[in-house]
Amino acid sequence: MNNNDTSAISTYPDVNAVYEKLNALVSQPLRPIQREKMQQYLDYFETKCTRSKQLTDEAKAIIPGGVQHNLAFNYPFPIAIEKAQAAYMWDADGNRYIDFLQAGGPTILGSNYAPVRDKVFELLKECGPVTGLFHEYELKLAQLIQQHMPSIEMFRMLGTGTEGVMAAIRAARTFTKKRYVIKVGGAYHGWSDAMLYGLHVPGTGRLEAKGIPRGASAATQEFFPNSLTALRRHLVWNRLRGGTAAVILEPVGPESGTRPVPYDFNQQVRELCDEFGALLIFDEVVTGFRLGLGGAQGYFNVMPDLTVFGKCITGGYPMAGGVGGRADVVSGFAAGIGGTGERAYIGGTLSANPLSCVAGYHAIKEMERTNAAVLAGRAGDRLARGLQEIVDRLDLPFVVYNQGSIVHLETSGVMLLDLRHPLRTLKELKPREHMIEEMGAAYMANGLITLAGSRMYTSLADTDEVIDEALDRFETVLK
Ligand SMILES: Cc1ncc(COP(=O)(O)O)c(C=O)c1O
Repeated sequence: MNNNDTSAISTYPDVNAVYEKLNALVSQPLRPIQREKMQQYLDYFETKCTRSKQLTDEAKAIIPGGVQHNLAFNYPFPIAIEKAQAAYMWDADGNRYIDFLQAGGPTILGSNYAPVRDKVFELLKECGPVTGLFHEYELKLAQLIQQHMPSIEMFRMLGTGTEGVMAAIRAARTFTKKRYVIKVGGAYHGWSDAMLYGLHVPGTGRLEAKGIPRGASAATQEFFPNSLTALRRHLVWNRLRGGTAAVILEPVGPESGTRPVPYDFNQQVRELCDEFGALLIFDEVVTGFRLGLGGAQGYFNVMPDLTVFGKCITGGYPMAGGVGGRADVVSGFAAGIGGTGERAYIGGTLSANPLSCVAGYHAIKEMERTNAAVLAGRAGDRLARGLQEIVDRLDLPFVVYNQGSIVHLETSGVMLLDLRHPLRTLKELKPREHMIEEMGAAYMANGLITLAGSRMYTSLADTDEVIDEALDRFETVLK
């Protein structure tokens, strides 16, 4: 375990204790919000969010489901946001919220951070967002990432985390000439054909693979979170059937550490990959820069062969993704229409556009200057400590822990369900899911935006005053 004052994670959670509490939470009946209180919270939306309701009702007629963002808040209806600044967001009706969604993680400096925005404006005045040709900022961004992450010998910018994952897998297969890719059950690595496998609930395989031909995920496998034995079993089995090209994982555990990994897990997976000649891919879409400028790989001191980047790489500006790593693997991506017959084909008209690259370069520079990841981590510590104190005082079975600026508050334990107990999972999935929807709505009615009612990303903008105000609001709901 690591205790470090200069790191974005000051104390790594005691993972055994976290699982003990999570298991206790899922083995007892739900503790939802009292019905009359919940009705008051729902009334908030009906009376105070009328413009949001009108807009999102209208959207349903033209946008499937009415929402397009993965992380949009949908219960009781989506909220339209009009303004975002630092630690706050304001909705279309002018209501103010403390923002712990932070766009799903990328805005470690806080929303709409002025020094980066100014640099983006400057660039837009000169050349606009896109030219289709090379811009110096592509080079500057790649060099900056390399400077902070020694595993990144070469880097290729793309448009999204999903694309980064697709490219990494393609590079791994091209380089190793092997077949299988192994992921952790339940993990989200974007929505490519190959990765919509074992989504959210471990053991569910192709359950969510609607519209995807069987062959597209025929060489994808999942192993139960944290089970090195299950991973080894796949690696051994694959050896006789085309081999394992790569193991892909989020270094803090799936879904930003919703099922946290023991501290030495990544090192052990590294050793297994070396033993079986598979590449290790770290999906640092959330952790790259949120857990420090060296990413989770710097924190755990484990070198992956390939790293996938996403939204954090531009500090939240659009077209954010990429893959980097060993030169002998990544150099297999040739640019443009030339290249060798051996290259793995990837592309993207708007990839590495000047707007994304200038935003990324200056966001990382600002994170360097302000020590943002460490300060956001301290805000996460303060929030988690305060929530734990409330949960203890109110004698609630809820589970609180944080990995720096990623804070988890599990109230229903839905994320702990899996197919090892199929009957319980089938019976409890919906009610446990509904409970966190209600919790999310209750937090929102009290001026707090969370990710799916159970996760909070803190940022540089979260001063002690912001966190203390948030804790008062959480206490109102938890009471
Ligand atoms: C760990 C992880 N990998 C991949 C992705 C996909 O990234 P994008 O939404 O940019 O396609 C996400 C998005 O939330 C993610 O959290």
